[in-house]
Amino acid sequence: MKSAPIIITIDGPVASGKTSASRRIAEIHGWAWVSTGAFYRGLAYVAKREAISLDDEDALSKLCASEIWEVRTSSERTKIYLREEDVTAEIYSEEIGAAASLVSRYPKVRENLLAAQRQCAVGVKGLVAEGRDCGTVVFPHAAVKIYLTAGSESRAERRAKEEGKNIEETMNSQQLRDRQDSTRKAAPMQIPAEAHVIDSSSHNLNEVVELINKLVMKELEL
Ligand code: DC
Repeated sequence: MKSAPIIITIDGPVASGKTSASRRIAEIHGWAWVSTGAFYRGLAYVAKREAISLDDEDALSKLCASEIWEVRTSSERTKIYLREEDVTAEIYSEEIGAAASLVSRYPKVRENLLAAQRQCAVGVKGLVAEGRDCGTVVFPHAAVKIYLTAGSESRAERRAKEEGKNIEETMNSQQLRDRQDSTRKAAPMQIPAEAHVIDSSSHNLNEVVELINKLVMKELEL
């Protein structure tokens, strides 16, 4: 019988560095990696393309199961395909991030995307999953749970630099998204009970990866 996969979850607010750090941890150990935000970004993007209102919970929850779009994992990016067209390059904007936050507030949508997220752990040796509710809802039995955060200024600076945008505007939209994500009723962003909290404000990516990896190695006795 195959042994159960090792699951590591990394949750946290917008631009806390979870994507880069989680991808590196997966790389170090040769494990699979998934950004669960891509499911919500993909849904929001496809809804826009199909002229489905972001306020229509029923239509959005039906769209979750539609075969017109698909999420595919890879070690670089969690990809979205719409009618076999790779639309990944279009989903990682802040505009789609904001739309993703809107569609993610619906319990039926979350429920309908859950099985596909859990499927990422099937048939793999290990999985590093990042998002908002990975440690609380998607993989509550994860071996190691991390909550990665950073001060709002350093998060805004980081993302504004990446996207060539104004820091203040970026900070405002991030604060709005974090507020929505942490105050919604369904699976709000929160620190999982057993999580190790890491503040990345004064650390570069290598240092954050090292901190997380030490915890992973220690807890898994690797
Ligand atoms: O991590 P991200 O920026 O790609 O996520 C986009 C939005 O998707 C985020 O603002 C809220 C939602 N999301 C969620 O509700 N649960 C997750 N596990 C991941 C993302």
